[in-house]
Amino acid sequence: MGGIVPKLAHHAHMRNLPSVVQEAIQSAGLGEHGILAVDIIAVTRGPGLAHSLGVGLNAAKTLAAALNKPLIGVHHMEAHALTARLTTRDPDYQPVDQDVSASESNVPIGSDPYPSFPFLTLLVSGGHTLLLVAHSVNRYTTLATTVDDSIGEAFDKTARELDIPWLPGRAGGPGASLEQFAKSSSNPGRYQDRLPIPLSLRSSKSEMKFSFAGLKSAVTRIVNQEKAASPTGEMDESKRQDLAAGFQHCAVTHLCQKVEQALVDCHEQGLDISSLVISGGVGRNATLRSRMDEVCGRFEYGGAIALDKMSSKEKKRLKRALLTAAAPKESGKAVRSVRVICPPPKLCTDNAVMIAWTGLERYQQGLVDPYDIDIVPKWPL
Ligand code: KG4
Ligand code: ZN
Repeated sequence: MGGIVPKLAHHAHMRNLPSVVQEAIQSAGLGEHGILAVDIIAVTRGPGLAHSLGVGLNAAKTLAAALNKPLIGVHHMEAHALTARLTTRDPDYQPVDQDVSASESNVPIGSDPYPSFPFLTLLVSGGHTLLLVAHSVNRYTTLATTVDDSIGEAFDKTARELDIPWLPGRAGGPGASLEQFAKSSSNPGRYQDRLPIPLSLRSSKSEMKFSFAGLKSAVTRIVNQEKAASPTGEMDESKRQDLAAGFQHCAVTHLCQKVEQALVDCHEQGLDISSLVISGGVGRNATLRSRMDEVCGRFEYGGAIALDKMSSKEKKRLKRALLTAAAPKESGKAVRSVRVICPPPKLCTDNAVMIAWTGLERYQQGLVDPYDIDIVPKWPL
């Protein structure tokens, strides 16, 4: 189904880019009297389809050279990771009385962009299933990626397998329809014994990777068995709802277990993880968000300092407790938990605002590129 045809995408970029740029400049009010009032030109360098990237990069280079402005080449995934620093403000920021501009605009001017480094990013969409640590602008560590399907593909294929009605064009696509459909399940545990939680901590403790193919195959197997056992040859709606709920539970649990493991590992390495940023289309899923709230609620921001003072026996206890999903909270301490942050849906999916913001973050760190940079279609973060 679907997919992008590189040649068509290339032609569409060549055809549409000038009018898109023109429209963006006009709607942002940056092009009054024929003068383009911008300070920096930021552009996606990769990863992606070479020809499409090339069209964008050439347009950006030409604009930057003509206007004599700095050019910043941006990594698509860095942009996803940093978007939350544009859309979120530090919840602990206290505007001081004389800071009139802050109280008037309700934007805490003077506070650092939030989440502060280091933070975790979970990028879950049709194209990505990625868990990384953002240490600072331009410095990331990839902790886990998928070895087969992305989580979005798994939701989409399962929605199709279960014949879940989907209205094309409705926000969220088949994944959102599956989430809605699963809400009507009366027995979400019905298929629990036949649905695996992929790479579960119990079976493979140290495997920091994602996998959805096995779960997807288990769904197909159950559907075929149910159809074969049914006099009509069809699976009735309530069973399909239960299977949708079971699938969602396993997929979300898989993500939660890896995030939990990552938080333990980061604490052990002395990284004070401030937040978990969830981005990408699947980040709209309410079950995923609330389960991640539970996971992160068990960890304390700044916990690494406390952990430093712990004996190895205490650390082991913490780790064991986490693995049985019953982590202890340090009692009587007014420290806050690791926060879950989800940028608004339209900035979670691919967009140009995130490229502009990342360009600004990089510019502030002095990361300006020469005009002769090239595209990087395959670019590890
Ligand atoms: O980031 P995105 O909008 O587009 C790209 O992949 O580039 O992600 C789309 C994916 C689709 O697989 C869609 O089914 C899934 O996100 N999705 C959801 C939900 N909303 C969108 N999956 C699960 N639950 C949702 N509520
Ligand atoms: Zn993307």
